[in-house]
Amino acid sequence: MNIVLCDSAAQATRLSATLIYREVAARPLVVLGLATGGTMDPLYQELVSLHRACPIRWSDMRCFNLDEYVGLAVDHPMSYGYFMRHKVFDPLGVREVQAHLLRGDAPDPQEECRRYEDAIAAAGGIDLQLLGIGENGHIGFNEPGSSLDSRTRIVHLNPDTLTANRRFFPPGVCQPESAITLGIQTILDCRQIVMLAIGEKKASAVAAMAEGPLSAMCPASALQMHPATTVVLDTSAAQRLRLKDRYRRAGPADLHSA
Ligand code: F6R
Repeated sequence: MNIVLCDSAAQATRLSATLIYREVAARPLVVLGLATGGTMDPLYQELVSLHRACPIRWSDMRCFNLDEYVGLAVDHPMSYGYFMRHKVFDPLGVREVQAHLLRGDAPDPQEECRRYEDAIAAAGGIDLQLLGIGENGHIGFNEPGSSLDSRTRIVHLNPDTLTANRRFFPPGVCQPESAITLGIQTILDCRQIVMLAIGEKKASAVAAMAEGPLSAMCPASALQMHPATTVVLDTSAAQRLRLKDRYRRAGPADLHSA
């Protein structure tokens, strides 16, 4: 796990967006795995800005969303599919055929999980997976207690995740209590992973992920076993890392100069 400490949230966000942008610029046929959530919103804005300043070819890449709420169709304003379409795909000119979305309203959700795993395999696997982290250490919606060898499946969301994400649901709009998520093993199969974590609320989860034991109670700790994970942090998210001085000294110069 390569841990990169940044001086500010803006710098960490810009760096993470630059890593995605560079990958697409260098390899137009890349297969991306894309996360959603509050941390990703400014990252995608940055990605769109980078593209507008110096356009690159998005027409040949393919991407897979990381997760979706069960029951929400892709055109539901609270769905992750809707978020991606409006904030990422439309501004970058990514077409529907390129962007694989989980159908939260699939009539047979189990079959939807199988279909998604098959589609990832048919695409040759995911080259670069973007991740956030939950305050409880989840990645995707793999909540504490998830099997480290899990694959795409339906999960019940923990009360703390429901509380953390309630802010995205306006009053009167029902918040689903389950989701479909790529499994931990599905994430570990991705060739490269970039995680962005911002803010004090993520500090405990980040420390457990990077310096705690490998444990189903902190699903993100599974990334310790992944050979090519870069974790980009601002100072607040890094504050509980015991070895943060070492990470700061070792931080690769080329990443910081991005
Ligand atoms: C979203 C996802 C989640 C979020 C995590 C952090 O697709 O997979 O794991 O990355 O819940 O969410 P924010 O960024 O809203 O704190």
